[in-house]
Amino acid sequence: MKISNFAVLAAGAALLASCATGPQDPRSEALRMMQRDFKTQGIASIDRLKQDELQAACDKYGDNPPKEIATKLQNAQYAAIKWPADGKFLGDWKAGEKVAQNGRGMAWNDKGGVGGSCYNCHQIAPATTSFGTIGPSLKQFAKLRGYGPDIQRYAYAKIYNSKSYSACSQMPRFGHAGALTQKQMQDLTALLMDPASPVNR
Ligand code: HEC
Repeated sequence: MKISNFAVLAAGAALLASCATGPQDPRSEALRMMQRDFKTQGIASIDRLKQDELQAACDKYGDNPPKEIATKLQNAQYAAIKWPADGKFLGDWKAGEKVAQNGRGMAWNDKGGVGGSCYNCHQIAPATTSFGTIGPSLKQFAKLRGYGPDIQRYAYAKIYNSKSYSACSQMPRFGHAGALTQKQMQDLTALLMDPASPVNR
């Protein structure tokens, strides 16, 4: 009993001593606190606190890595994309609009494949008038960019892993993170690319 109490006190003293030695890096301090207090629950695994190589590089270079490093990171992200098993990029745009509007996903009690929260950052279909502006407007996406297979592939890739084109993009990596299913990403690609979608009318 006594020994363990002492051990706790000693650990506390060591922490105080390290605080007294000067200002701590607030990020590593915050990380230490999260590692101490956060627990894995459902799909919200404690591994989320670990940065991958790309996140670490973006942090290191203030989201602006030298071009050759950015290109290398983007190529690695692109190479890891799992393309639709049925070879089709376009699903059902109406289902895509629902996924785009749904702002829920990746919570501990979700199972993956809920919402894309696309409107948090983008204008998309003109009838949906509430949207954020962190990302560019996607209104008339295919009308302006073209309906061809290359743009379809680009739109799917961007949704699957936005960092395959822009290493330190603020857009989440929906397929890479398992936040959306293949079908949901095909439906979202249709929302942007289908000539019948309100996005292109
Ligand atoms: C947190 C904000 C955020 C969310 C959420 C988000 N995006 Fe983005 N998106 C961006 C930003 C910023 C860019 C522009 C920079 C870049 O290319 O990464 C972008 C770019 C894009 C592009 C490329 C546009 C172009 O002109 O080439 C597409 C397509 C896209 N987003 C689709 C989506 C879809 C579909 C969703 C929902 C599944 C979504 N985004 C969710 C921030 C976001």
